[in-house]
This record gives sequence, structure tokens and C-alpha cells, in this order.
Amino acid sequence: MDFNLTDEHKMIQQSAKDFAVAELLPGIIERDDNAIAPTEQIKMMQEMGFLGMMTDPKYGGEGMDTISYVLAMEEISKIDAAAAVVMSVQNSLVNWGLEHYASEHIKEKYLRPMASGKAIGAFALSEPEAGSDATKQRTTAVDKGDYYLLNGTKNWITNATEAEYFIVVAQTYPEKGSKGINAFIVERGVDGFEIGPAENKMGMRSSHTNSLMFTDVKIPKENRIGEDGFGFKFSMLCLNGGRIGIASQALGIAQGALDRSIQYAKERKAFGKFIGEHQAIAFKLAEMDIRIEAARLLVHKAAFLKDEHKNYIKAGAMAKYAAAETAMWVTTQAVQIHGGYGYVKEYHVERLMREAKLTQIYEGTSEIQQIVISRELLK
Ligand code: CAA
Repeated sequence: MDFNLTDEHKMIQQSAKDFAVAELLPGIIERDDNAIAPTEQIKMMQEMGFLGMMTDPKYGGEGMDTISYVLAMEEISKIDAAAAVVMSVQNSLVNWGLEHYASEHIKEKYLRPMASGKAIGAFALSEPEAGSDATKQRTTAVDKGDYYLLNGTKNWITNATEAEYFIVVAQTYPEKGSKGINAFIVERGVDGFEIGPAENKMGMRSSHTNSLMFTDVKIPKENRIGEDGFGFKFSMLCLNGGRIGIASQALGIAQGALDRSIQYAKERKAFGKFIGEHQAIAFKLAEMDIRIEAARLLVHKAAFLKDEHKNYIKAGAMAKYAAAETAMWVTTQAVQIHGGYGYVKEYHVERLMREAKLTQIYEGTSEIQQIVISRELLK
């Protein structure tokens, strides 16, 4: 067993860290306050290849492994988790899904611009009444011969304001349940496709989340991903890897909170000594570090299994569960360590705590991860 990172991994980790500190940290409080997307920084991330990390160079991507991806995700999330979620959705849901299951036509027309940093993608599965219970799709895609007619509403769609291409999941044969669902590529701006206003969120505010409304949208037949009825399975397969992305995001949020807490514990004095010298704080720091390291091992194991083409369903769900729960616990401790300063924006930890909460909810709640894990155990 080798826990060492290769020189290439270290280089990617360092370049993500340098980028995050230089470009994402400045202005982050204002962006979060006012829900302003880091548009310029996302463009830079596209130019640096962060939005096509794992895609084969044959389709314009960087051809890196999943370990490289989780390392970069962690570094960027330490500083700006909202920028990291754009990267996660694009890499692990959209690009990965298209590369593995779409036709050559879709790969050339849609994957190539996304993997090469020229376009952003979004993944639209959730609906007002189909969140955790994802088979209950109400959006319909009726087969009209040479096109599908799409009607319905999607909710909680990350990247919706930036995306040019959307993977949209819809029911074609309601009587067939999960086997009657299809996934399609829908282009921004087609007739009948509207994007709702951004949600006013608790955290991750500079990553915009919107509803999508489809009224008689015509989708060309060739925009269907995979065989007829493959859409639900396709979504699950994408989410298996998506969980590794969000796990690494949660890991970064937790590590960012610990780094800031260590710094504060070495600067702030109370009762005549630095607060880190009080066991009440020192023990908290130790516990935070242990939990983060344990979560990191799970994240790296899941990434490793994916790179080895082994089954990573359970490992990915475990990584997501552990990292999200750790992020929530660690960021709460970080606010406590900072006392009153933890409750104001300048010290960043309250933002990290708000961001951590979302990692327990999106791309499957912690309870969904428990369902996935227990199903694998009981198989
Ligand atoms: N991997 C591969 N295939 C899977 C799978 C997995 N993890 N989970 C289910 N499937 C397959 C099953 O094998 C089955 O296929 P077959 O019929 O061919 O065997 C099919 O999918 C249906 O499976 P189930 O009957 O088990 O489905 P279910 O209704 O019981 O639901 C669930 C299973 C795991 C709860 C699923 O609904 C689920 O994952 N829900 C959570 C959805 C989710 O994570 N949403 C997040 C939205 S995306 C997002 O948040 C992105 C963003 O913007 C940040």
C-alpha cells in the first residue's frame, strides 16, 4: 500500500492551491454576501484545465486521474467551495457521463467544448417532487418520431446561470418506472426553455442554483444519451462519481476550517496564554485533524478504486457521508474556537459552516448515502 502522492499529483495540488489563494480568496466575502458568481475566476479555471480534468485528451480534456481531481477539488474548496462545485458538477457528472455513455455525435458537439474549457454544463435530475426519490420524474419527454417533446420543471440546478448545455432527465414511458426514463442534452436558449431566478441560499451563495422550466421543447433524437430507457441508470452512474467530487469538496471545507482554527489558536490569547495552549482548544484541534484525515483516506480510497476500474459505489457513498458529516462537525468546532469572531464574516469560518451544511444535502443527502451503503452490504 502506497500513501505517497506522485510528483505530478503534488504539482496539481500545488497549482490548485496557488490559484485558489491568489485568485479566489480576494473578494470572497463580498461575492458570498451578494451572491456574485466568480465569473472571471471560472474562466481562468477553464483555461487551466480544471473543468475538463478527467476527460480523455481525445475529447479536449486533460486526461488526469481521479486522485488528481480530488486533490485539486480539496485545495479549491478550502478557499472557495462555491467555485469548486462548478468544477465538481462539470467534471464528475456532466463530462464523465457524456464521455462514458453518450454517442460520438454528442461527444464531439457537446463534450469537446466543455472538456476543453469553452462551455459549462449542468445536470438536471431533481424536481420539485423528485429529490431523493429520483425515479418519480414528472418531467415528460414524449417520443414524436424524429424528436422528443419535453415538458416539466427541474429544481436546484447548479451551474444553471452559466451553463450552455444541460443534461436533462425525463420520463418517456411512465408505466416502466425507472426503466422508462431518458437523459438528453438540451441547449440553452432553445424555444420553450426558461431559467428561473437564482435561489437565495444559506451558503455556497456565489454558486447559483435555479429552476428550469420546459414548455414543448423539441429535443432532436440524437441528443438522447444512451439506449432508450437508460436515463435513470445513467444518472445513478454519474452520481456514483459525483459523490467523490462532493466528498472532496467537503474535505476541503473541513481542512480550511481547521487551518484557520490552528492559525487563530496560535494568535489569540486568553487567561494569560495562547488559546491553543488550553486543553479545551488543543483537544478540539486534535479531534478535528483525526476526523479530517479519516475522511481523506475514504475520499482517496474511492478515487483510487475508480481509477482502478473497481466497484466504487459503496466507497464513494462512504466518502461523501464521512466527509460531509466531518465538514459539518469540524466547521461548527471552528466557529466555537473563534468565539465571537467565529460568528462574523471576516474570519471566514461561519461561511465554511454554511457551506458544509450543503454537502450533507446535495448529490444525495447523508441519509441517501446510508441507503446506498446498506444496499451494497445487503446485496
Ligand atoms: N449505481 C448504478 N446503478 C444504480 C445505482 C447506483 N448507485 N442505484 C440504483 N441503480 C440502478 C439499479 O440497479 C436499478 O437498475 P436495474 O433495474 O437495471 O437493476 C435502477 O437503478 C433502479 O434502482 P432502484 O430501484 O434501487 O431505485 P430506487 O428508486 O430505490 O432509488 C436511490 C435508489 C439510491 C435512492 C436513488 O433514487 C438516489 O440515488 N437518489 C438520490 C438522488 C440524488 O442524489 N440526487 C442529487 C441530484 S444531483 C445534484 O445534486 C447535483 C448538483 O447540482 C450539485
